[in-house]
Amino acid sequence: MDTQKSSKFFVGSIVIFLILFLLVKVILSTMLDMGKSAVAADSMVAEDVAERIKPVAQVYVGEAPVVEAAPVVEASSGGGAQVVTQVCALCHSTGMMSSPKLGSADDWAPRIEKGIDVLYESAINGFNMMPARGGRPSLSDDEVKAAVDHMLSQAK
Ligand code: HEC
Repeated sequence: MDTQKSSKFFVGSIVIFLILFLLVKVILSTMLDMGKSAVAADSMVAEDVAERIKPVAQVYVGEAPVVEAAPVVEASSGGGAQVVTQVCALCHSTGMMSSPKLGSADDWAPRIEKGIDVLYESAINGFNMMPARGGRPSLSDDEVKAAVDHMLSQAK
């Protein structure tokens, strides 16, 4: 009788153990599946999503307006300022190699005396340690001149 009871208990606990085991397994695999679908969501390409959620019908309202992109460097004083910060400031902000320092009226006064055309000429073709076009050959004459204008306007 006792042995029967304990063996029943034994079988019972095995069954409970199996049920628990299966439960854990089901829970784990559901979690894994959720993980997988989360990864799938990550890899969804924006275009695919747009394709899937796009409206069933589309209304044609004529040509889309073309938005013109603003030129990056303008040959205006703004463009000159940009060239100065991106190219010329490398030397001229610190007065490196005794270059006339940006914003220093004293440094620029003797240069200005030479006349603006001489300064354009030096900036475009180089002058002693001053490299032609500040070492950026892709700059146009107008861009270099705008940069000189900007430098001079700051040195007053
Ligand atoms: C590699 C350093 C360096 C860079 C970059 C540089 N300069 Fe110069 N610049 C000099 C030096 C050095 C002098 C002084 C040359 C001298 O007087 O012998 C000078 C002088 C000048 C002068 C006076 C020239 C004269 O005839 O007195 C002008 C104008 C000038 N630079 C404009 C510019 C402009 C504009 C840029 C950017 C497009 C620029 N520099 C970039 C080093 C540089």
